[in-house]
Amino acid sequence: MLGNRSVTDFDHTHDQVFPVRPDLASTAHINEAGYREAYDQAASNPEAFWAKEAQRVAWIKAPTKIKNTNFTGDISIKWFEDGVLNASASCLDRHLAERGDQTAIIWEGDNPNDSKHVTYRELHEQVCRFANVMKGLGVGRGDRVTIYLPMVPEAAVAMLACARVGAIHSIVFGGFSPDSLSNRIQDCNATLLITADEGRRGGRSVPLKANADKALASCPSVKNVVVVKVTGGKVAMQPGRDHDYATLVADASPVNEPEPMNAEDPLFILYTSGSTGQPKGVLHTTGGYLVWASYTHQNVFDYRPGDVYWCTADVGWVTGHTYIVYGPLANGATTLMFEGIPTYPDASRFWQVIDKHKVSIFYTAPTAIRSLMRDGEGPVKKTARTSLRLLGSVGEPINPEAWLWYYHVVGDARCPIVDTWWQTETGGILISPLPGATALKPGSATLPLPGVRPLLVDGDGKELTGATEGNLCLSDSWPGQMRTVYGDHARFKQTYFSTFPGLYFTGDGARRDADGYYWITGRVDDVINVSGHRMGTAEVESALVAHPKVAEAAVVGFPHDIKGQGIYAYVTLNAEEEPTEELRKELVAWVRQEIGPIASPDAIQWAPALPKTRSGKIMRRILRKIAANETESLGDTSTLADPAVVTELVQNRVG
Ligand code: PRX
Repeated sequence: MLGNRSVTDFDHTHDQVFPVRPDLASTAHINEAGYREAYDQAASNPEAFWAKEAQRVAWIKAPTKIKNTNFTGDISIKWFEDGVLNASASCLDRHLAERGDQTAIIWEGDNPNDSKHVTYRELHEQVCRFANVMKGLGVGRGDRVTIYLPMVPEAAVAMLACARVGAIHSIVFGGFSPDSLSNRIQDCNATLLITADEGRRGGRSVPLKANADKALASCPSVKNVVVVKVTGGKVAMQPGRDHDYATLVADASPVNEPEPMNAEDPLFILYTSGSTGQPKGVLHTTGGYLVWASYTHQNVFDYRPGDVYWCTADVGWVTGHTYIVYGPLANGATTLMFEGIPTYPDASRFWQVIDKHKVSIFYTAPTAIRSLMRDGEGPVKKTARTSLRLLGSVGEPINPEAWLWYYHVVGDARCPIVDTWWQTETGGILISPLPGATALKPGSATLPLPGVRPLLVDGDGKELTGATEGNLCLSDSWPGQMRTVYGDHARFKQTYFSTFPGLYFTGDGARRDADGYYWITGRVDDVINVSGHRMGTAEVESALVAHPKVAEAAVVGFPHDIKGQGIYAYVTLNAEEEPTEELRKELVAWVRQEIGPIASPDAIQWAPALPKTRSGKIMRRILRKIAANETESLGDTSTLADPAVVTELVQNRVG
């Protein structure tokens, strides 16, 4: 049941098609014929296509070399390589003449009584001042700056100020623990940390500065810490190292010349989880990323001047980078930044914010939709939402039930939904409907954007044609693609290009239907997607085994109604330890403390032993089946060293 309606009230079949609205077919930036033409041009002559699209950003020196990419050998990806630009100038300075007084950022606080508008002119001035502050602290081209901030306009200011002076920002989501923060600072040797006294979320405060202080105990590279006062909570300030943001900015000059950067100079690092080891620093560069951010923001959301655009992500994730900050600001849009959560003060908050600020484009995650569906239509229907004209979804597969609820209840059957598939690594959206061009099917990300060349391969890398299902790869580069893993190009090559040589492997599985539509089925590697947050099972395992009472751990994802996937941990204790409820709670708290709340296991099963092959490899396939309660179809267990282990685990399944 969906609150007071059942899904069948929407009369859906899973292959229901929602045709393009005729008015959008004639008014949108791209219609169906336009899409076909752009797709063909980008495929047959990428140089010409992207030379033209590159003009959407402000170049100090326009590029003459457009594409120079190679998915074989050492893997080299360069776009617009002789172009010179500054991302902050492209997002701010060039808008001043035409729309200096237009709102760039609408900030909506956690508290519904707090909101403010920041114009392009004001944002530009703040960024110039903070860029001068950073220079004064000795930060310049190529230096790494870690940002650990809540959702306040200063987060965008900090990002753009880094871009302005040529420094590389690395944002760490405020929900990560001191340990996770310190690992990410150490990996890139950041010299400056920008944080806040505290964050606010759902009426509670998050002790960011206190976390930062703990992290910094093991980060000798950090020479300076700039602290934004958000709540005014009392925090310790270390003289000489810690500085108050407002004081520094007030004393700085509002005049700052942007640093001319090469298109291939790094813009940011963003750490993301993979199937093995510690999170890796995904590196994006300046020109290609910005062109891709602008191109996709304009066309996927069919953005038009006057729109109020709201992406509910956190700037700590790639969605916040590309679709709260860089894409919208590159396009001169008004972007809404929300400090709070969907259910505070109540489950009507999203829809109230839409009415309050007349939001026309709304972009959120399926997990938020599913959690709000539980409260039924009431909290939605008490708001008008007449300003809305387009809805978007990102981060995980959206189940048709959630899609239909989003479409009918939130969008009043009036707003197309763009289900956008992409990854931290891709910089921006790759597979998505275009509102004026693509008929929608609930649950399908539909078709690749121009410049995107998906293909499905079997386990041996053989291309599968027609309607089929397989491993999703990309056969050619697009401007927004990541360039390397920061400081570890070998890992970049190994992670993305070694499974299927010559192809970029996404780690996702997908089905392609007879219309050529893609249906992403989820990760095929040891990465799980919890509420749209990407988590490596290996990371959670290494946190668990770091506990003194744990001998061994294996972590898998399992289907979860709200989160998409939950975290299921099998834990083997040291011989002398007793499995108690208290210890279970202690381990959950331990993982939260080691990684952050987003990694909290949903279930911990005590495992006297784990199912292993005779060569000692854990058979995760079996553990996934048990966690999903699919114990009738465990498959072949004949290669197990001790099949009795499985019987025990099945009997004592949690949940
Ligand atoms: O599995 C896919 C899923 O999220 C993964 C990427 O996660 P991350 O790098 O954190 O970026 C999230 C925001 C782009 C993908 O490999 N994913 C993302 N969007 C979708 C999706 N799965 C299905 N449908 C989507 N629209």
